[in-house]
Formats: sequence, structure tokens, C-alpha cells
Amino acid sequence: MIEVENLEFAYSPKEAMVLNGISFHVDKGEMVAVIGQNGAGKSTLLRQLNGLSKPTKGRVTVAGLDTRDTLVSAMAKHIGYLFQNPDHQIFCRTVEDEIGFGMKNIGMDADTIKERTEQTASLLGLMGKMDAHPFNLSRGERQRVALAGVLAIEPDVLVLDEPTTGQDYKECIEIMEIVKDINRKGAAVLMVSHDMEVVLDYAQRVLLMLDGRIIDDGRARDVLRRRDALESTGLRPPQIIDVALNLRGGDDGGDDGCVGGSGGFNGAGPGQGVFSKACGGDFSEAYDVDTMVEAIKWKKTSLNEDGRGL
Ligand SMILES: Nc1ncnc2c1ncn2[C@@H]1O[C@H](COP(=O)(O)OP(=O)(O)OP(=O)(O)O)[C@@H](O)[C@H]1O
Ligand SMILES: [Mg+2]
Repeated sequence: MIEVENLEFAYSPKEAMVLNGISFHVDKGEMVAVIGQNGAGKSTLLRQLNGLSKPTKGRVTVAGLDTRDTLVSAMAKHIGYLFQNPDHQIFCRTVEDEIGFGMKNIGMDADTIKERTEQTASLLGLMGKMDAHPFNLSRGERQRVALAGVLAIEPDVLVLDEPTTGQDYKECIEIMEIVKDINRKGAAVLMVSHDMEVVLDYAQRVLLMLDGRIIDDGRARDVLRRRDALESTGLRPPQIIDVALNLRGGDDGGDDGCVGGSGGFNGAGPGQGVFSKACGGDFSEAYDVDTMVEAIKWKKTSLNEDGRGL
């Protein structure tokens, strides 16, 4: 669905490359997160995918279309793109028109536009705001309006630059559940997020960027537990993995093997009691980080259902 080969990009011929030899591909039905510190080149990379910005060297293909020789309007039929800043996306005078704009642009019929506009607005809590001018809404609401316009198209490829910015916890989950639903129906999703918990909960795969390069590409749980690599880019593992790693005694390198670290969780190490207490289980054997993450997640969910929180 998305193929990027040896991509290099500079904003002008006089400036240095901002993207330095990037290659990866994303298949149908995959949900991939791009993470990295500010200025790493995440948004610059995403902007290459809708054809608004073309490679200086290398090749970008989305849904079989090479961005170098495809019109942006033709790309728009296959790719839904959410800008990092919603104000770069919004220009209609009402929320309803804004949500319907992309669908109208690619030639959908009026009945489908109306139906999908209402459906998406309702899912994103915007039904009461349909006649409002988007610029009278809060930043978080404008983000949801821009996102609604993108999601309503149900494109083959979704490219989202920080889709949960400005949202509270509940709104963040609502947005991500809609994205997950579209992804389950087969769309490829590539999203930038600074929220490592969201990345762990929703992305199957993670691309870690540093200075315009991808320095790690793998299963979300593996990339997010390589603490040294993450910290070299100014990021920290999500809290759940941090807890599991601390219990196990450090960075386990991210493989799937069982406990081989320096104690902490293994056998009678100091972590075991803490973990057993936190999760209410009898953990007399050694567990790997994956198992601990699952157990902590499960416990967190069941406590949340009781309304007490972890
Ligand atoms: N329009 C532009 N013209 C020139 N340089 C730019 C432009 N946009 C971004 N840059 C530069 O390109 C580099 C990468 O920026 P980019 O916005 O892609 O980073 P990012 O990883 O998305 O950061 P953030 O997490 O802050 O959104 C930065 O050095 C930035 O200053
Ligand atoms: Mg950015």
C-alpha cells in the first residue's frame, strides 16, 4: 500500500537533506506508528505520502501510484491525510461542509455524503456543532473536525500526523477506536504520535526516526522496550513497559526470549513481589516482558471496569 524507497528530501537545493535515505513499506491492514523527537522529520516524511511534496531522490508509491507522476487530486481518492495542525486543513465555513468537503471533492453522491457526515460527526461528538464555524471551536474540536473529514472518506490508506493532539483521554480512545475500525476493514494506517501509550495500544509496528533516518523498525512492543535506542532519541518507553522492564532489571534488547536479565523479576528477585502485588497473581515462575505487559494491561482494564483505576 505504501512503498518508500531510498527517499531523500531537502526543502530547497541549498539546504541539507531533511530525510536521509528512508526505505520501508506498509501493507494493507497494517497500523504503523512513526515516533521520534521534535524535528526528526516525521511530518516531512508524511507529507511525501499525499504527493504534496515530492522526493528529491528516491521513490514514494501509495496504492500503486508514484507520487512523482500523479496529481494530488488523484492521490486523494486513495489516501486520507490529517495535517499536524488542523488549521492547515480547514477552510469551510461550517463543520458540516468541512466534513463533507473531501467526499464531495472525490465525487461521492450527496446522499452518501450526508449519511457519512452525520455518522462520523456523531462518532466524534460533533453533532451539536454542525452549523458552527470551525474557527469558533477549540483546537481539540477543530482537530476532530479535520479528522472527521478524513475518516468519512474511508480511504485505502490513512496518514495521520498526531491525530490525538488536544484530546482528553476519552476523546483520544474514541478517535483511536474509529481509526482501528477502519484499519480492521483493511486500510493501511501510518500515524505519527508522541503518546507512547497510544502507540503501544494501537500500532502493530513502529518506525523510530532520528535526524531524518529510520533507526529502528519492528513490532511495537520490541521497539518500545529497547530503552537505550528510545532514550537516544529523547523518548521513554510507555509506562507499562517501563514497569515491566524495571521489574525484570533493565533493557532486554526486545527479543522474545524469556528472562535472562539481571534479576529484578526473576525467581525471588526484588521485582517479583511488587509485580505479584500489583497484578494480584501468583508469579512464581519467570515471565518475559510481553507476558508482564499483558498481565499489567489486563489488571489495569479490570480495575478500570470496577471504576477504581490502577
Ligand atoms: N517548510 C519547511 N521549510 C524548511 N525546513 C523545514 C520545513 N518544515 C520543516 N522543516 C525542518 O525540517 C526538519 C524536520 O521537521 P519536521 O516538521 O518534519 O519534524 P517532526 O519530526 O515532524 O517534528 P515535530 O515532532 O515537532 O512535529 C526540522 O529541522 C524543521 O526545521
Ligand atoms: Mg511534526
